[in-house]
Amino acid sequence: MNQAHEAVQVAAQKMNQRYRLGYHIMAPAQWINDPNGLIQYKGEYHAFYQHHPYDENWGPMHWGHVKSKDLVHWEHLPIALTPGNDYDKDGCFSGSAVDDNGQLTLIYTGHIYIDKKADTFYQTQNIAVSQDGVNFTKVVENAVIPKPPADSSHHFRDPKVWKHENHWYMILGNSTKDLVGRVILYRSTDLRQWEYIGVLAQSDGSLGFMWECPDFFELDGKHILLFSPQGMEKQDDLYNNLFQTGYLVGDYHYDTNHFTQTSSFTELDNGHDFYAAQTFLDEQGRRIAIGWMDMWESNMPTKADGWCGALTLPRVLTLSNDHKLLMNPVEELKALRNAEHQILRNRSVATNYLVPTNEELLEIKAVFDLRNEQAVCLKIRGIHEEETVLTYDYTTKKLTLDCSKSGKAEDGIRTTTLHVENELVLQLFIDRSSIEVFANNGHATMTSRIYPTEERLGFEVTTDANVKELTYWTLNDIW
Ligand code: FRU
Repeated sequence: MNQAHEAVQVAAQKMNQRYRLGYHIMAPAQWINDPNGLIQYKGEYHAFYQHHPYDENWGPMHWGHVKSKDLVHWEHLPIALTPGNDYDKDGCFSGSAVDDNGQLTLIYTGHIYIDKKADTFYQTQNIAVSQDGVNFTKVVENAVIPKPPADSSHHFRDPKVWKHENHWYMILGNSTKDLVGRVILYRSTDLRQWEYIGVLAQSDGSLGFMWECPDFFELDGKHILLFSPQGMEKQDDLYNNLFQTGYLVGDYHYDTNHFTQTSSFTELDNGHDFYAAQTFLDEQGRRIAIGWMDMWESNMPTKADGWCGALTLPRVLTLSNDHKLLMNPVEELKALRNAEHQILRNRSVATNYLVPTNEELLEIKAVFDLRNEQAVCLKIRGIHEEETVLTYDYTTKKLTLDCSKSGKAEDGIRTTTLHVENELVLQLFIDRSSIEVFANNGHATMTSRIYPTEERLGFEVTTDANVKELTYWTLNDIW
């Protein structure tokens, strides 16, 4: 066992458990951020994450590692990447994984400070390989891309690599010298020698100074460029978090390497805590996304408990007819369910209905008939004042998540537009310190961390609409 691994084990003994999540990926203790290297390799699902094993705050980045047979139950593995070589001295930053002929290969960014205090740095692209899927060796050819193209800023990170026909392709988050966010493209035959192809997409000036964590994939006949721009301005309900994760839909041709955008930038999730999402294609052909379930520079009360950061549930991506990305929890998550509680079926609740349960790990499904244009409110309630409130207003078509009374007093409200014709279908996953809302089969999702301090009273539905279904399950704790 290496030093970092031991440090995490020691820290794990001292944690305050109050907000530890029951069925989300976290490190055994200490800090994590972005998901990295998502892959199904030799039948098993692997997820890595940005990790600081020595502290509950961000610092020199390592890659933490978990694997799973079913996308539900995860097992911690030893830390996969530790910084310290001259090409990754100050951090092994985000990246991706590929199966190179049976060899699990990680492609990641090396971070090197020029002057740490002034936050001046440069970044390189590197490779580490594994035969057993557990122990990784950095290759002698590192850095495989030692510097960015001539017209680039120092932001040059987060390689996403995939194979198409006989070539490997890599995209990187980047910006121009005058800080216009963009994604650039490289090509290789052996993952070691890379040829710079050019700019895949660039901000028109409205999409920030740096595009972090890009991903690029085909879905239902279109190409999706997913990325996490920094520096976008808030506009009403849009871009309310410090940074966003969103996508462009378009068409791409490998012979010209030209991406033609056919839709404008759309946020992938409208909650408070969703960032740096990455995807992978599994053996069933599903495109699965996982995000970091936090936001930079936000209030993170679990730091006081000796840990910080988690990943979202795995979500299947599909494209709607009007070219919007839909996210839905993977089917496998049903394995978390304990007894099913069917509360209501085709009934009016005549204003409100409380379902008492002090369970903290819940899945709730609620279906409302809104043909008479009613509003709906669903509250997760604490025994006193605390509540997390989800409302839908048929007339304004707004879905609103209000966490101001569950740990986000300063900036508690997020709102998104959802066009409901007849039925509102809500699927909610509640954990000890998170809520994930999936509305109308993924047409809107909202992911936020909540930090309740009270015991839970239950959840309450308020509406004069007909409730077609109200069911809940208590969920297992996988850890
Ligand atoms: C995104 C990010 C990446 C970087 C990593 C560092 O959240 O800033 O761009 O590689 O985190 O931890």
